[in-house]
Amino acid sequence: MFASLKALPADPILGLLAKYREDTNPKKIDLGVGVYKNEAGETTVLNCVKKAEQHRTDTETSKVYIGPTGSPLFNDEMTKLIFGQNHKILNENRARTVSTPGGTGALRVAAEFIKSCKAGATIWVSNPTWANHTGLFEAAGLIVKTYPYYDYENKNLDFDGMLATLKQVSSDDAVLLHACCHNPSGMDLNQEQWQQVADVAKSIGFMPVIDMAYQGFGQGLDKDAYGLRLMAETVKEMVVCSSCSKNFGLYRERIGACTIIGESSLQADIAFSVVLSVIRVIYSMPPAHGAALVETILSSDELRNEWYQELAEMRNRINGNRQLMVDKLIEHGVTRDFNFIARQAGMFSFLGITPEQVQQLQDEYSIYMVGSSRMSIAGIASSNVDYLAQSIAKVL
Ligand code: LMR
Repeated sequence: MFASLKALPADPILGLLAKYREDTNPKKIDLGVGVYKNEAGETTVLNCVKKAEQHRTDTETSKVYIGPTGSPLFNDEMTKLIFGQNHKILNENRARTVSTPGGTGALRVAAEFIKSCKAGATIWVSNPTWANHTGLFEAAGLIVKTYPYYDYENKNLDFDGMLATLKQVSSDDAVLLHACCHNPSGMDLNQEQWQQVADVAKSIGFMPVIDMAYQGFGQGLDKDAYGLRLMAETVKEMVVCSSCSKNFGLYRERIGACTIIGESSLQADIAFSVVLSVIRVIYSMPPAHGAALVETILSSDELRNEWYQELAEMRNRINGNRQLMVDKLIEHGVTRDFNFIARQAGMFSFLGITPEQVQQLQDEYSIYMVGSSRMSIAGIASSNVDYLAQSIAKVL
């Protein structure tokens, strides 16, 4: 059976990790995969997570099956974190959340759920979008189409193009939107633009699917959820996929959540039953460890406050790196305008160089970024930024 197989290339993002690890150049810089790194280039375990882990070790009494929904406390806390305490959909009891194996698991559950609503449904994704979105949705049997999003030439949002395409979307379609920290462009909608997109969603009736992998990494926990909360107030049905990989630093624990919002509480219950059956046939039930840590942190005032501080530290470092990068490029004689890097938000920006230049940075300078020139801004540090800017200057 295996004889007909042809080897496939490594994943464009995850493949970089292996290459970077093998590189023996002491000056190597990893701007590839979207993980937070501190000034020392390390991705350490958050202190609040360490404490929650200790608590779990001390208090866990059983490892019996948890069921397809995962932990009810985690699901509850996540729903409040995503929508805020007093959101209309919570008061109307229209949201149902399940724990999932990471944000990718949440997206796969969402995709399978959409397929259950309508076989062969179309989902629209931004051009560009996270490299895994298209493959993931297609693997679940959805048709993927794109709407314009990033204007590569002006390093800005192509909002007119986006809106014009969304106005043509059918009422049976789903539309994927990034809540914040758009991956890979770093360009987010402003509040007025969110309002316009929400108005179009409402008037056409397409279903928004909102991917929120970076809540707290852009402007803050509430500000980053602004558009998502507005959308949830406006439309009848919606799906939210969220992740605890980045904001809790729980990457390898694989914990995220998928929230379904129904038009009524009864409709939400029906949709939820479908979500549970979808989960049962793909992975049966989610892992429990990451969820246990997150629920412990969110339900303790002390640990929650510590998390706020650690999250703010990560956010501020990334935002600081954006300006630092712009300043250093100028200092090292680059005349091209890179100010857009400081205007964008979250973990990523496109440097805007050619694939050949990206390859040259990798081959000659051991600087790793995705072929599209997407840089993970968190990999920049005061110890490597001069080398980075000098290398970019040479390649340019
Ligand atoms: C990224 O975009 O780098 C991250 O979301 C990690 C991944 O799984 O691709």
